[in-house]
Amino acid sequence: MSRTHFTVLQWLSLSTLLLQIFPLSHGDVGTAAQYGPPYTPTACYGSDPTQFPSSNLFAAAGDGIWDNGAACGRQYLVKCISATTPYTCVPDQTIQIRIVDFAPTLASQPSFGGTTMVLTETALAIIANSSAPSINIEFQQDYEDLSWYDERRGVPYLMVSRRNEAAKKEGEKVVSALV
Ligand SMILES: *[C@@H]1O[C@H](CO)[C@@H](O)[C@H](O)[C@H]1NC(C)=O
Repeated sequence: MSRTHFTVLQWLSLSTLLLQIFPLSHGDVGTAAQYGPPYTPTACYGSDPTQFPSSNLFAAAGDGIWDNGAACGRQYLVKCISATTPYTCVPDQTIQIRIVDFAPTLASQPSFGGTTMVLTETALAIIANSSAPSINIEFQQDYEDLSWYDERRGVPYLMVSRRNEAAKKEGEKVVSALV
């Protein structure tokens, strides 16, 4: 077996191992509204056009998660769990969004006030009926994966995304390498 294939196998088993160490936690429960253009200026990055993911999957943070602006740039996994009207949620659909703005100071009017976050119309339409003014969501912060290959030891390392808050506060906890 070539070295490359062996490495791929190592990665696969490492991922499996990590999922057991850090089972995907259930997120927090909140609400989401939607908004359309104009999207600028934003409270996070002003009029910089490069702040928006080309997927249009971004959102504004409500008071509850704004964290004095620390929420800017954070990524969340968001899922629709229910709404006032039955069958509003698209089942088994999760989106990853990036926070670029503060809901109370949006340049355009959100479909509903006081929600945990305000999703772009594009983002909301993926997880729910696009005519819903607000939905109930489950959300959790998503962290970047960091991975690298230690040439000297010859082993791959992976810092897991979706780490729990405890692991994050301890500092960047590196989970064991595969041998
Ligand atoms: C979306 O919701 C609207 C209003 O409740 C309803 O009329 C429409 O049929 C729904 N669309 C789908 C695809 O379920």
